[in-house]
Amino acid sequence: MSSFGKSFVVVLTLFCLFSTRANCLRKVRPIDDVQPEETLAVHNEIRAAVGVAPLVWNKTVAAYAQHFANKQAKAGVCMYSDVRHSGGPYGENIAAGWVQPTDQMSGPIATKFWSTEKPNYDHDTNKCKDVCGHYTQVVANQSSSVGCGSYRCHDNELIWIVCDYYPMPVGDADTRPY
Ligand SMILES: *[C@@H]1O[C@H](CO)[C@@H](O)[C@H](O)[C@H]1NC(C)=O
Ligand SMILES: *[C@@H]1O[C@H](CO)[C@@H](O)[C@H](O)[C@H]1NC(C)=O
Repeated sequence: MSSFGKSFVVVLTLFCLFSTRANCLRKVRPIDDVQPEETLAVHNEIRAAVGVAPLVWNKTVAAYAQHFANKQAKAGVCMYSDVRHSGGPYGENIAAGWVQPTDQMSGPIATKFWSTEKPNYDHDTNKCKDVCGHYTQVVANQSSSVGCGSYRCHDNELIWIVCDYYPMPVGDADTRPY
């Protein structure tokens, strides 16, 4: 009886050692992928760099983002080409990345990724030279709070991050983010 228990543990450990699955030993919790404090801090560094006031974390908005993430997960929305915005009353940024070979997606990583669009934003003309809408949302001074959610696809190997912003920025040709 006790020797059976032991060999079971050994087999389970070996399985985990050789498994590439991120969920082998732990249950995936969205909050661990979102990392609210760190995500907020990265937003605020990027905003401070252009003199924009910091955001605060908004639990209502985060619950909205997580609810949308859960719906996406349930509907199996996993391909980039299938992803649509939630269509809610907030500004919204979405990103995805693979877990392997090393953790390549999380709330903070998504936020840094959006900020790589910074050179594409021309403040003088208030226009994007290439995609820059995720960056302008991160720095938009009309937004004062943020909340994010996440879900995983493909055996937990692909992480989706959804951040929503309140209030939604105006984002028209005459209104600069800062
Ligand atoms: C969070 O967002 C809601 C709108 O959904 C807003 O009413 C509330 O004031 C916001 N809270 C903070 C702390 O920004
Ligand atoms: C946001 O930026 C615009 C454009 O520079 C400026 O006119 C406005 O006063 C700023 N608003 C806040 C709340 O900082």
